[in-house]
Amino acid sequence: MIKVSSQPLRALGGDTVVYLVRQPESTAPACPDRQVSIYLEEVFSLGDFSGKADEKLLFYLPAASRGKGKSKSVRFLVVGLGSEDPDSELFRKSGGEIAKAVARLKVGKLRIQMIEEESGAHLAESAKALAEGLVLGTYRFDKYKGKESINGEEPKGIQEIIIHSSRAQALKKVVAHGEFAAMAVCAARDMANEPGNFWTPSDFARMGRELAEKHGLACKIIEKAAMKKMGMGGVIGVTQGSAQPPKMVVLEYRSSGRKAPTLLLVGKGITFDSGGISLKPGAGMEDMKYDMCGGAAVMAVMQAVAELKPGGVNVVGIVPATENLPGPEALKPGDVITHYNGKTVEVINTDAEGRLILADALAYGVDKFKPTAVVDIATLTGAAIIGLGHHRTALLSNDDTLAERLLAIGDNCGEPCWRLPLGEDYKKQLKSEIADLKNIGGREAGTITAAIFLQQFVGDTRWAHLDIAGTAWNFTEKSYIPKGPSGVGVRTLIELIMNWE
Ligand code: BES
Ligand code: ZN
Ligand code: ZN
Repeated sequence: MIKVSSQPLRALGGDTVVYLVRQPESTAPACPDRQVSIYLEEVFSLGDFSGKADEKLLFYLPAASRGKGKSKSVRFLVVGLGSEDPDSELFRKSGGEIAKAVARLKVGKLRIQMIEEESGAHLAESAKALAEGLVLGTYRFDKYKGKESINGEEPKGIQEIIIHSSRAQALKKVVAHGEFAAMAVCAARDMANEPGNFWTPSDFARMGRELAEKHGLACKIIEKAAMKKMGMGGVIGVTQGSAQPPKMVVLEYRSSGRKAPTLLLVGKGITFDSGGISLKPGAGMEDMKYDMCGGAAVMAVMQAVAELKPGGVNVVGIVPATENLPGPEALKPGDVITHYNGKTVEVINTDAEGRLILADALAYGVDKFKPTAVVDIATLTGAAIIGLGHHRTALLSNDDTLAERLLAIGDNCGEPCWRLPLGEDYKKQLKSEIADLKNIGGREAGTITAAIFLQQFVGDTRWAHLDIAGTAWNFTEKSYIPKGPSGVGVRTLIELIMNWE
């Protein structure tokens, strides 16, 4: 738990003290601790540290320099904030930098002095981002590594983090919010990092039940037999080649407000995507264990929602989960399936499976919960990577207000999106000769036609689709975003929910 304290840091001990400093034009960065300031002047005159953004300086004060009237700490970390007015992203990155810098040190109490010149709202945003960066930057996944493979690189851990600010009282809530959101992101990363043989549809179901039990959410698992009965031909079709039973996890959070609107979240939970009969090439196929990142994001958001308990909004999270494998009973190109809402689909390519399972989940969710708005999140198309690379999530929506909100939130929280269009012209690419739709629309505009496919299952409900194929892993590397799965979308969706009205 990150604590916030109003005690001035200078007067306190602690094994590790962190100062965030601005970069002045041509002098050494200033610091509230006089001794540290003197030190910084010397280092500055050597040309080694000027307070540039992302610059870090770790140093130690010998016993003779500490004590009464002097600095009380041993280990100091000074992190540069640059010369521009720092935005929340810079604080998030700084949090990540701090986490990285102390990762292999044995830190009892990590005390961080928040800069004081910020205005109130700005300060709150900055402190929240700092807390997020600290938690996100600490993330590691070593579960399947033995002591030898870790090779002395195991983190010694931080026992306690305290952020110091004269306006501590005003920061308590936002810092906790940032911490919970970041912990949810880490939970999503954990699920995604698990290999396909350790994270199956049944694990989504187990986690759903655990979350429900721990936090009092309602949880329903729709099993294969029930899916068949309800006519969920998409999930049933995709799961046919797999020995693992499919699951559809439905988690419900009810806010205390009686007549609150409902927001529906749907996440793609393909725990391994081989392509099915339209088998993918072998190179890089192992990454397709990450094809459940949308589902992981929805589970993680539900965890955070249960912890943060937003008022005035009910949230339903649905994760359709299955493997996509070839097998004697697998779905074949040319097969026709019928979805929950009665629409028929000609399956041209069994590798376009995400949309098939999402179609049932969306139609079911809209039908059962009559939501005010729906957001789905999925590693849906390779075309999203071709279009936007690994730096932005593709956003498609039938509602300008919802789209603009998501764009603004994404920009602000370091999960930027880029909106692509929908429309009748593109929809023509999905015309089938023998069914209502085909499941692919050709090479051109693959991300758009995939979204338009989904759109057929939400009716007139306000809806946004996040295609995270490019950002769910290999996302722009930063101090707080690791190489592997990023947990993208979790913080954006939490922010959307916490500010829903
Ligand atoms: N899970 C993939 C999309 C994907 C590819 C995500 C690479 C992340 C990285 C999806 O199920 C898929 O295979 N889509 C096909 C659709 C095509 C057959 C129309 C694709 O994008 O190639
Ligand atoms: Zn696929
Ligand atoms: Zn897939």
